[in-house]
Amino acid sequence: MNINSTVISGYQALNDIGYLLNDKSKALLVTDKNIEGIPAVQALIAQLKQHIATLSVVNNVPPEPSQHDVTAIMNALTLRDVDLVIGVGGGSVLDVAKLLSVLCAENAPSLDALLAGEKPQQRTASLLIPTTAGTGSEATPNAILAIPEKETKIGIISPVMLPDFVALIPELTTSMPAHIASSTGIDALCHLIECFTATVSNPVADNYALIGMKKLFTHFETTFAEPDNLQARLEMLWASYYGGAAIAHAGTHLVHAMSYPLGGKYHLPHGVANAILLAPCMCFIRPAVVSKFAQVYDLIPDADALLDNDAKSHALVDYFTALVKRLKLPASLEEIGIGPDHLPYLVEAALDVQRLMKNVPTAVTANNVRDVYLTLFPSYQEQ
Ligand SMILES: NC(=O)c1ccc[n+]([C@@H]2O[C@H](COP(=O)([O-])OP(=O)(O)OC[C@H]3O[C@@H](n4cnc5c(N)ncnc54)[C@H](O)[C@@H]3O)[C@@H](O)[C@H]2O)c1
Ligand SMILES: [Fe+2]
Repeated sequence: MNINSTVISGYQALNDIGYLLNDKSKALLVTDKNIEGIPAVQALIAQLKQHIATLSVVNNVPPEPSQHDVTAIMNALTLRDVDLVIGVGGGSVLDVAKLLSVLCAENAPSLDALLAGEKPQQRTASLLIPTTAGTGSEATPNAILAIPEKETKIGIISPVMLPDFVALIPELTTSMPAHIASSTGIDALCHLIECFTATVSNPVADNYALIGMKKLFTHFETTFAEPDNLQARLEMLWASYYGGAAIAHAGTHLVHAMSYPLGGKYHLPHGVANAILLAPCMCFIRPAVVSKFAQVYDLIPDADALLDNDAKSHALVDYFTALVKRLKLPASLEEIGIGPDHLPYLVEAALDVQRLMKNVPTAVTANNVRDVYLTLFPSYQEQ
């Protein structure tokens, strides 16, 4: 897949945004009220207004948007005839902006048609500016929507949704509360490690994944110790971007397949559901990817180079467990008051995510999936 976006990045990149907008006069800015209120975003909007005559704002994208949210946003749009869609926000906002860039184009298919698998042919020009690090949505062909009736999520996927322009501006991410920075950073890590170990992995995606993980292992925790460290924030934006680029060239697998039903059933934020599943899923696939895990382990700043590959692969799983703990993210569903009542549903729904299950680097049975989910209910396991 060809990612053809022009990317600007760095502190002060805010001031360069005008170069991207030369010929644009009517734009739709997609965001949420939280993000709109951030001072750095206010500065960004002021910049945009200097360059764009008509800027219409949609500021009601909810976290983890559903198909109904997008339909409601579309129906309420006062201005569809725009020459640029700008998304400023986390993955929820960026995914909706990507969909609106398709739905606002001439002869656009309906959202229902997109959900049924129709492929979009064109879109309005688009600029995506992430405020989390993150989903990497700005570098993926995916838009993920919750489908409440099915209690799961589905991905609308088309390279047409890859944006023209991306701006990675670290000043926009310093306002993230720690619980959002931690869960969204784990999402980026899942993209990187899953793509690197997927059956569809390949040298292009592997390069993105390895560079991204090196950045993430080096800078992720600095962003908590020093929230205003713009260099660390920028490195995390790149780690997230590389995670997205790895998805564009390969694909995620077990963590994401098993996390969709958790999001759909319990409305857990995507990064939190992934954090709970990261170590158990990696423990399950480890025997099939020992040398790859050893290669990843070596990217951790204080890795023990003297271990053999098998020990390194175990040490990587232990590192993931400890990282989730250090970030104070939940390590089980029980911890957040969810019992095992829905296990059969969860197993069936996860296996249903065939698009991702086929990327798992080892055979997976319903019993395997059940066993991994069971580790999220430690006291039930012991009975
Ligand atoms: N398109 C893709 O490739 C892809 C990949 C992974 C996940 N996703 C989807 O992305 C969504 C999750 O996105 P997310 O994890 O980025 O979270 P999010 O966009 O849902 O944001 C979570 C919360 O953080 C707030 N927030 C975001 N940036 C902030 C900032 N800088 N300061 C203060 N608050 C801020 C938002 O207002 C929101 O309340 C899910 O729907 C998930 O399925 C998409
Ligand atoms: Fe994700």
